[in-house]
Amino acid sequence: MASSSFHFILFSTLFFSLSFSNAQPSFRPRALVLPVSKDASTLQYLTRINQRTPLVSVNVVVDLGGQFLWVDCDQGYVSSSYIPARCNSAQCSLAGADGCGTCNAPARPGCNNNTCGLLPDNTVTRTATSGELTQDVLSLQSTNGRNPGPVVSIPRYLFTCAATFLLDGLANGAKGMAGLGRARIGLPSQFAAAFSFNRKFAICLSSSTSANGVIFFGNEPYVMQPNIDISTSLIYTPLLINPVSTASAYSQGDRSTEYFIGVKSIKVNEKAISLNSTLLTIQSDDGYGGTKISTVNPYTVLESSIYNALTQAFVREASYLPRVQSVAPFGFCFDSTNVGSTRVGPAVPSIDLVLQSESVYWRIFGANSMVQVRDNVLCLGFVDGGLNPRTSIVIGGHQLEDNLLQFDLATSRLGFSSSLLFRQTTCSNFNFTSNV
Ligand SMILES: *[C@@H]1O[C@H](CO)[C@@H](O)[C@H](O)[C@H]1NC(C)=O
Ligand SMILES: *[C@@H]1O[C@H](CO)[C@@H](O)[C@H](O)[C@H]1NC(C)=O
Ligand SMILES: *[C@@H]1O[C@H](CO)[C@@H](O)[C@H](O)[C@H]1NC(C)=O
Repeated sequence: MASSSFHFILFSTLFFSLSFSNAQPSFRPRALVLPVSKDASTLQYLTRINQRTPLVSVNVVVDLGGQFLWVDCDQGYVSSSYIPARCNSAQCSLAGADGCGTCNAPARPGCNNNTCGLLPDNTVTRTATSGELTQDVLSLQSTNGRNPGPVVSIPRYLFTCAATFLLDGLANGAKGMAGLGRARIGLPSQFAAAFSFNRKFAICLSSSTSANGVIFFGNEPYVMQPNIDISTSLIYTPLLINPVSTASAYSQGDRSTEYFIGVKSIKVNEKAISLNSTLLTIQSDDGYGGTKISTVNPYTVLESSIYNALTQAFVREASYLPRVQSVAPFGFCFDSTNVGSTRVGPAVPSIDLVLQSESVYWRIFGANSMVQVRDNVLCLGFVDGGLNPRTSIVIGGHQLEDNLLQFDLATSRLGFSSSLLFRQTTCSNFNFTSNV
């Protein structure tokens, strides 16, 4: 009796492992998922990818508008599946990498002859360098939109090597940056091509440094506990293309891979503030102006005249709040002792980014407009970007947290949820317990 059940267990284990390994190559995910953490000291958002053979887990900074994945190959890159992109190969042309590089040192990852290269860009410090285009195994979890599912691999994922110094300014432990921008070798496009799903992805950044947010690649649903599919109630606005690259280094004629939207006006407590409309428009000749979304800026940065107009209107509408000495990088701070609290954060005037029509706006509530810098001190979480910045409005991380944003590259459309706090959930409520 005992012996026959033992055989049965052995047999069934064998059966399942065989069917699993047979099923694995034909399993085609409809979406993928990555966790995102927030680094408490830099306020950067980090994700973790598994790469190389044998697989190593690598922390990289999430760069929403970045062109591609780049990692430090100089220190500790060991992999038997590393394949540099040979000059004039299909990989070089897909990546838009011309030229042919050599390396005057013993061959190793990041240093090979006859390879094409790109310019990995640290968009935090705005430093770019040259690096070899290459391919290696990358693996991550699939999802049904509710839980992570089976792990899937891309055998030849294209990325760029960088020298170790390019990590300066990134969060402790980060080994590179993951670019989710519009480039053909950005994460969204490569994942969509590898598994034949739609070129779209969604980010949901957690406001907590101790609970993970989430990035979904591919199709909906995007479900947060308790069982709320955020994808069914998004507001949509066109994504705009800046014809002039916003990267730290680029070739003439390159377009920006960042995501721009068309903010037409700004309202405080539903009253429009007066703005120079030229600044709100992307200038076709030099690419100045306009509004982009960024995960490398911790707070929204506004061109000075926009900053002044917004902060003056806010102070006027919030005249009941006692001002206190400001705390850098903010210019306007308040005593929060008597500030009421609501489901969507401190009770303060709403700030609306009005989009393609008066009825389509991104409303920013207290949880996203205000920053608690210390007990009883609440600051307006916007930063003065000076005169003549490259982009007039850069919507930063604090304003994105606990909002889900879906970027659809094929239809060039942004879907945004507004604050999930209204729906009694947050971006840290994705169920990361695998269902396999
Ligand atoms: C590249 O070629 C040069 C000249 O032939 C050689 O000296 C150098 O060692 C090679 N580098 C690598 C990484 O193979
Ligand atoms: C509006 O901004 C543009 C671009 O910076 C500038 O050239 C123009 O003088 C500004 N207009 C006004 C009325 O300030
Ligand atoms: C999270 O998912 C796991 C796996 O499907 C499930 O067992 C668990 O009940 C879920 N947790 C919650 C809080 O729903």
